[in-house]
Amino acid sequence: MTESIRMNVVKGVDEMKALSRGLKREGKTIAFVPTMGALHEGHLTLMAEGKKRADALVASVFVNPAQFGPGEDYKKYTRDTEGDLDKMRRTGVDVAFFPVPEEIYPPGFQTYVEVTELEKPLCGASRHGHFRGVATVVLKLFNIVKPDVALFGRKDYQQLLVIKRMVRDLDLDVEIVGMPIVREASGLAMSSRNAYLSEEQKARACSLSKALGEIKRKFDGGERDASALLESGKRVLSDSSAGEIDYLEIRNGDTLEEVKLASPGDVAALAVKVGRARLIDNIEL
Ligand code: PAF
Repeated sequence: MTESIRMNVVKGVDEMKALSRGLKREGKTIAFVPTMGALHEGHLTLMAEGKKRADALVASVFVNPAQFGPGEDYKKYTRDTEGDLDKMRRTGVDVAFFPVPEEIYPPGFQTYVEVTELEKPLCGASRHGHFRGVATVVLKLFNIVKPDVALFGRKDYQQLLVIKRMVRDLDLDVEIVGMPIVREASGLAMSSRNAYLSEEQKARACSLSKALGEIKRKFDGGERDASALLESGKRVLSDSSAGEIDYLEIRNGDTLEEVKLASPGDVAALAVKVGRARLIDNIEL
């Protein structure tokens, strides 16, 4: 399976379940990369790693309506099925799963997963219900695909913690792997939403990683006061007129609790609106 050139493209949930059951029956292990498409180098790195970790690699593309709030970019989110299929094929994906919303959320759907504390701060504070939507769809996809290992990017740091907690709390039999953030040469973290940026906005968006880099530099230089560290990051953002800051915070890297004095293992995370793109990034201290 690992060397397969022919990629199986599956839309139906039952077909995907049957395929996974078949792989399991043959004693094959499954790596899974769930995505919302508009694939970039960050996704492809997850897939390349998944390829190494199991006999078969399944990747899904599903723009999940349950994780978008009213007025967010669900309708405008980039959809590029042909481009995604091509990239998946070239990365060696064995099964490309493209479910449709009607099958994932059938009429009468009313069961959701909530990771009650980890979903509250940071992105959860301004995107109410976002992580409930993420946890619910990821659990559903895990039940359909039955992976042994699933890979997620650390750019979505809070999402990674939410998923790890759900897996632990619900005794799911899947290993969760968090992969390093992939950045453009400018430092900008790769994101499907970067496609919304004009060249001028892209140049401004570089200051997000610079602000986090400045916080890390001060931290490595011995500064521990969280307010002072955050101030230095905010200065970088305001000097470059990055955009409207949703949050810039330092939190415990496991629990996401607020910290007044930063220590190794904490995370500095931010969300900034640049043009119509709400961009997130983080750095581990
Ligand atoms: O990170 C994403 O692209 C999405 O949140 C995920 C994990 C595929 C769930 O829809």
